[in-house]
Amino acid sequence: MAKMWAGRTAGNTDRIADDFNSSIHFDSRMYRQDIAGSMAHAAMLAKQGILTAAEAEELIAGLGGILEDLQSGKLEIDPLAEDIHMFVEQVLTERLGDVGKKLHTARSRNDQVALDLRMYLREELDGIVKLVEQLIATVTAKAEQYADVIMPGYTHLQRAQPILFGHHLMAYAMMLLRDVQRLADCRGRMNLSPIGCCALAGTTYDTDRRFEAERLGFDGICLNSLDGVSDRDFALEMLSALSILMMHLSRFSEEIILWCSWEFKFVELSDAYTTGSSIMPQKKNPDMAELVRGKTGRVYGDLMALLTTLKGIPLAYNKDMQEDKESIFDAVDTVKMCLQVFDGMVATMEANVDNMLTAAQKGFINATDLADYLVKKGMPFRTAYKISGQLVALCIQEGTVLEALPLETYLTFSDLFEKDLYDAISLRTCVEKRSSEGGTSLASVKAQIAYVKEQLK
Ligand code: ARG
Repeated sequence: MAKMWAGRTAGNTDRIADDFNSSIHFDSRMYRQDIAGSMAHAAMLAKQGILTAAEAEELIAGLGGILEDLQSGKLEIDPLAEDIHMFVEQVLTERLGDVGKKLHTARSRNDQVALDLRMYLREELDGIVKLVEQLIATVTAKAEQYADVIMPGYTHLQRAQPILFGHHLMAYAMMLLRDVQRLADCRGRMNLSPIGCCALAGTTYDTDRRFEAERLGFDGICLNSLDGVSDRDFALEMLSALSILMMHLSRFSEEIILWCSWEFKFVELSDAYTTGSSIMPQKKNPDMAELVRGKTGRVYGDLMALLTTLKGIPLAYNKDMQEDKESIFDAVDTVKMCLQVFDGMVATMEANVDNMLTAAQKGFINATDLADYLVKKGMPFRTAYKISGQLVALCIQEGTVLEALPLETYLTFSDLFEKDLYDAISLRTCVEKRSSEGGTSLASVKAQIAYVKEQLK
C-alpha cells in the first residue's frame, strides 16, 4: 500500500525496510493519547478559523468513533500501518473522506509523537507514584507491627549495634518517599506541551498553542520549537528516577534474600511469594526478590540505551528518536510489575522475632555501650574503649557474652564497674538510649512512622 506521505517518492518501500521503519507494534499503546491530542488540535483549528466549526465537529466525532471502536475491539490496529499516528489518520480519512485529510494542518508527526509520549508517560508516572505510595504504606505498616523488635544493625555486614526492626524498615520508607518526590519533580518538566512546534520551526498558520495545551491538561508549552520536537529529557528523567527506585528495591531485595537464608532466618516469606526447586525438596526460594534485583539491571539498561541513542543526534527530529519508546515502555512495565509483587511480598512477610534477638545477643553489639558506661563514670573514652575490647576478647576466649560475665570479672578490669552495668548494656537499654532525632529508639521510630504517614496524606 502506498504511504500517506507518497508524493515526493512513490512511497512503495521495500518490505524489509517497511518492517524496519514501522513502530506500530510498540507505539499503538499510545492510541488514546493520540486521539485526545487530535481532538484538541481540531478544536484549536476551528477556534482559530483555520477549519470551520462543522469540520472540526466532524473530525472530533470521527475520532471519538475510532476511540470507541478500538476500545470495544470492533476496530483492530493494523499491524501493517507505519505507526499509531498514521493509522488513526488513515482510518479517519477512510471514514470521513476529504475532511479527514484536513486534520494534519498546522502540525507534524514530530510534535505529535512528542505530545503523545508526554501524555502517555505522565499517566504512567501517576500510576507508578500510586504504586510507590502503596508500597510505602505497606512498609510503614510492617514497621509499626515490628516497631520494638530488636535486631542487629550492621556495617560491613558485621554486627555493629542493636537497632529496632521498625527502624530498619523505615529506612526503606524514607528512600521510597524520595522516589515519589523525584517522580513528582520530573512530572513538572514533562507536563509542557510540544504540539504546535510542528516539524521543527513552528508554523505560518495563526495557531493557539496555549489553548491546545490547556485542553490537554498541560501546565504550559515548550518555548523553542526545535527543542520541543527533539527534547526527550522528560523520558530520561523518568528513566533516571525509575532506575534509582529500582536500586532501592534491589537493595531491599538483597536484604530479604539474606534474611530468608538459614544463615539468618530473620524473616519468613509467604508461600505465595516463594518457589520450590525441581530437584531439592527442602527448598523455598525467594524468587520474587531475586527477580526484582535482576530486573534492576534491565531498567538501568533502558536508561543507558536512551542516553546513548540521544547523545549524537543533531537538531531537530531524527528517526533515531523512534527508539525512545521501547526503552521507556519496558522500564515502565517492569517497574509496575516489580512494585506490585514487592508490595504483596512485604505485606505478607513475617519476622522471626526470636532469631533476630538471638543474633543481636551474639555479636557483642553492646560493646560501645559498655565503653560509654565507663566514660560516664569518669574514665577517658580511649581507656574505656580498650577495656571493653579486652573484655570482648575474654568473652570470645571463654565462649560467653558480656551480659553473662560475673561482676567479679568486671572488677578485675576496673573498679568503676558496679551492678548497674548489666542494665546499661542490656540490648533494650542500648536501643532506647539512642534517642537522638532519627535514631533507633522506639520514640524515634514512632516519630518517623508518623512523619511518613503525614506525607502520604
Ligand atoms: N513513529 C515516529 C516516531 O516514533 C513518528 C515520527 C515520524 N516523523 C517523521 N518525520 N518521520 O518517532
